[in-house]
Amino acid sequence: LSAEGQTVIDYRDTLDAVMPEMLRGFFVGWKAPLSPETHLEVLANADVRVLALDTDTRRVVGFVVALTDGVQQAFIYILEVLPDYQERGIGTELMRRILDRLQGIPCIDLTCDPGLQRFYARFGMRPSVGMVIRDY
Ligand SMILES: CC(C)(COP(=O)(O)OP(=O)(O)OC[C@H]1O[C@@H](n2cnc3c(N)ncnc32)[C@H](O)[C@@H]1OP(=O)(O)O)[C@@H](O)C(=O)NCCC(=O)NCCS
Repeated sequence: LSAEGQTVIDYRDTLDAVMPEMLRGFFVGWKAPLSPETHLEVLANADVRVLALDTDTRRVVGFVVALTDGVQQAFIYILEVLPDYQERGIGTELMRRILDRLQGIPCIDLTCDPGLQRFYARFGMRPSVGMVIRDY
């Protein structure tokens, strides 16, 4: 907590000292939610990641991950903020930071539901059409 009693969020791109137990509560509504251990593996294997940590509780409260060839293409494949922490600008800050890390890469893709297109449009993204496999 800050001196004013407000939650202070620490944004970082390394996994130093991040343990599985700091990763509870994610993948809300997923058919097959990842375990905290698998979540940590996803974060470790991503080419680029940004985590949001609550400095008071020492828990991860949001994250975003991307795969990239480092030259031409990047794919932002998961962005999530814990329900209790949504609507406070954390998702926006995670997007801002990962796009900063991907600066210079001309093609950046992600898939989302139509309802979220307005959110992503804030970052200069525009609608596209995609195809997926979901093999649970
Ligand atoms: C989408 C998400 C990451 C946004 O994070 P956040 O920290 O709440 O975002 P911010 O506080 O920075 O911005 C909130 C804005 O996003 C909009 N938004 C958030 N979730 C939304 C949703 N499901 N549909 C439409 N708009 C949404 C809010 O209306 C708000 O807009 P406003 O500022 O005009 O009121 C978060 O809601 C989340 O984790 N959702 C569940 C997982 C998910 O859908 N991830 C994206 C997969 S493509």
